[in-house]
Amino acid sequence: MLNSCYFEPHMRRTEIAKAIGGEKIGDKLKIMGWVRTFRSNRFISVNDGSTIKNIQAVVDFENFDAELLKRITTGASVSVEGLLVESLGKGQAVELQVEKLEVLGDSDPDKFPLQPKRHSLEFLRENAHLRARTNTFSAVFRIRHAVAYAIHKYFNDEGFYYIHAPIITGSDAEGAGEMFAVTNFDLENPPKKDGEIDYSQDFFGKKTNLTVSGQLEAELAALALSKVYTFGPTFRAENSNTSRHLAEFWMIEPEVAFADILDNMDLAEGFLKYVIKHVLKHCKDDLEFLEQRKQQEEKGLPEAQRSELDLIESLNFVSENDFVRLTYTEAIDILRNSKPNKKKKFQYLIDEWGADLQSEHERFLVEKHFKKPVILYNYPKEIKAFYMRMNDDNKTVAAMDILFPGIGEIVGGSQREERLEVLKTKMAEFDIPEDEMWWYLDTRKYGTVVHSGFGLGFERLVLFITGMGNVRDVIPFPRTPKNAEF
Ligand code: 4AD
Ligand code: MG
Repeated sequence: MLNSCYFEPHMRRTEIAKAIGGEKIGDKLKIMGWVRTFRSNRFISVNDGSTIKNIQAVVDFENFDAELLKRITTGASVSVEGLLVESLGKGQAVELQVEKLEVLGDSDPDKFPLQPKRHSLEFLRENAHLRARTNTFSAVFRIRHAVAYAIHKYFNDEGFYYIHAPIITGSDAEGAGEMFAVTNFDLENPPKKDGEIDYSQDFFGKKTNLTVSGQLEAELAALALSKVYTFGPTFRAENSNTSRHLAEFWMIEPEVAFADILDNMDLAEGFLKYVIKHVLKHCKDDLEFLEQRKQQEEKGLPEAQRSELDLIESLNFVSENDFVRLTYTEAIDILRNSKPNKKKKFQYLIDEWGADLQSEHERFLVEKHFKKPVILYNYPKEIKAFYMRMNDDNKTVAAMDILFPGIGEIVGGSQREERLEVLKTKMAEFDIPEDEMWWYLDTRKYGTVVHSGFGLGFERLVLFITGMGNVRDVIPFPRTPKNAEF
């Protein structure tokens, strides 16, 4: 067989994922990638990011220039041609018998930050420009891609239209005032009128900010196209230094006309299960790797703090079981009578109806009490946004949050207030000027209909699916308070 093979002048590169699939045994291949390790001057482990698996390239060092072999160091990029054969060694099914070897880019082994050993996630965060070269981060980013793909596929197959909401807006969709200003003023010397900054002279002729949510624009679109969703970056200037908050995160916001809060819950639950099942089906190798990573990480923890289910088990569990549906009022009763509340273990004790739920309460409900995802709905109107539909009790709004184990809130949504007069009253209560939102109010004037939607925090879903512990480790270049490197 060997004699009948020849190298084309420009042999095409084969991705490692395809090379190790088994079908190419006996073929001459060229692979390219980055060296992970080089053992015994003989075994080069190469990865090109197409799979978590490395290909082992075996060199007969006697036949290669010693100077060339010295340049095969961790981090260097190489091109390797040779015959793909079944491997006799442990740990891999195939290996490449190297016939041609080229170093594409050298990597000084004394300086390359990623040594072939275990690095802490904190260290890798500081080296985010290189961290995708590790197994953990390449697995996370491949899964992040698969989650995004599954989201688009789900909505497309269900007849939703993808709407691109603007990134620069003049409104505060959540009314929380956590916005980053957008301006091209000279900040040292902005134009002023009567002692105040004159925004009429700014680029857009008004005060503008980065969007905190595409919801309001999604509502406009839903009231014409019926079923739409956004999937874009959103920005929040909240000074939350937690493992769940980013200043720049991606949000998916479906919005559906003629749908009430119960339809909204069904949509959210079906959608989340679909996406998780997609990843279970298509990202097996990466999930298995991340499951082991998590087990390893939890080994050092006391028994009580370890996850009850392994990663894949927990994904199966969530995708196969009904979520619990519970009103805010029922949740408050459970929390008020809970052990941590009675023993004053909660940082914020639950005492009265109306209290905002903190993540400790949400996690108690999900992780200790129900041990299942929970959809909490009908919240007190005071603790939710102005656009949520008032219930007949005049005390609660048709809001829903979905709480996930290990994460807390992953989805926030509601039925929207479609009645013009009620909406106007609500806006007045929240100090939202009508003239700034004339276009939003117009939809309630002309052919208003019942409609609902929700926002899913993309990074929180990726966090859940990958079993990582911090949202900063599931987005390539996290933006958080005091941190915008890379
Ligand atoms: O609950 P939120 O603030 O809801 C909205 O923005 C609505 N406009 C959504 C809608 O009804 N269309 O945010 C929705 C989700 C949260 O449940 C959470 O998963 C995520 O967005 N999220 C964040 N993720 C990362 N970092 C942050 N700072 C986040 N803030 C919210
Ligand atoms: Mg929320």
